[in-house]
Amino acid sequence: MTKGELISSFYEAFGPGTEPRVFFAGGRVNLIGEHVDYNGGHVLPCALTMGTWGLLRRRTDDRLRFYSLNFPQAGVLEGTLSSVRFHERNQWTNYVLGMLFALRERGIVLNSGFELLIYGNIPNGSGLSSSASLEVVAGAAFRACYDLDLTNVELALLGQRAENGFIGLNSGIMDQFSIACGREDAAVFLNTGTLSYEYVPVELHDNVILIMNTCKRRTLADSKYNERRAECESALKALQKKLPVKDLASVDLRTFEANKHLIENETERARAEHVVYECARTVEACRKLRQGDLVSFGRLMDASHDSLRDLYAVSCRELDTLVNEARACEGVLGARMTGAGFGGCAVAIVNRDAVDAVMEKVGTAYEAAIGYPCAFYVASIGGGPREL
Ligand code: GLA
Repeated sequence: MTKGELISSFYEAFGPGTEPRVFFAGGRVNLIGEHVDYNGGHVLPCALTMGTWGLLRRRTDDRLRFYSLNFPQAGVLEGTLSSVRFHERNQWTNYVLGMLFALRERGIVLNSGFELLIYGNIPNGSGLSSSASLEVVAGAAFRACYDLDLTNVELALLGQRAENGFIGLNSGIMDQFSIACGREDAAVFLNTGTLSYEYVPVELHDNVILIMNTCKRRTLADSKYNERRAECESALKALQKKLPVKDLASVDLRTFEANKHLIENETERARAEHVVYECARTVEACRKLRQGDLVSFGRLMDASHDSLRDLYAVSCRELDTLVNEARACEGVLGARMTGAGFGGCAVAIVNRDAVDAVMEKVGTAYEAAIGYPCAFYVASIGGGPREL
């Protein structure tokens, strides 16, 4: 959609008047470092050029009016600034309301209502963070239209707070951070314990990042996510009986091996093992990417998936099928699930000349095994939120 088309849709939804301001924020794909961002580990995500557009026009009263081109059947949804609360229906507006909630917690209340039109081209439930993208674009629009003094890192933290405090998902900071602080053609190597970060150029030479979407609707994902987080906290407590560590990411491999018996619960021990090894793998993978050693990078992606499947138990038959089929193809350097899991997407590094054959082969095998088709996107890495 062009900016002009979006603005026309805005007038259709809300009527004529002042021209709305137009903002954009991307989605994200994580290359490696999965389920470590709530354990203080490093992650290596990239912002995507796929994302969410938000058009905002201020009102003079305190009414809030929302319209999504992705859910036209819902029509214009209404609210007021003075009654910001979670809606069981009208799901998508909760991410925007969550941002207002998070702002209010910081003592920031907008001084007038608004009209907001949203359009996104990230497939919903694909694990490419359509929700974080929505939070960040809403935050960027509020910042600009209400002159709020907020950095991109603060936008990310507000987004996480919206998830944790309003939506009820105890997510880490990776999604919002990579979207709010993304840079074109670079991955964000983020230490989620300190929020210090560096940009790492994604130079893949003859290869591309291929995203493979299971197209499986996620259902149990949210409750399982919070369960994994609780298991990690419990494992950490067990280690802390003896070790002075602040999070699982602070436990090195040798210390973990020497002390893992402290975690009596076998499931929790496996979860912690994934986290400790995934943290080490991510640091190593980043080094390999910087050195241009994509073969080793691919192997680390493979190991990450296997650990998420066997130790962390967040993969599923659909994701395993994509990953196994991709790995069996010529020209694939590595493949793994990306994001929370239980559905959503897998990501692979694939030789450019092999991409068509890989999509053909994986696509056919997937449909035969699962019964419905998957989808593919060649990722292009975008920058942070911006006004258009
Ligand atoms: C979801 C969460 C992130 C992160 C990933 C798993 O995307 O929102 O914070 O935990 O899962 O790595």
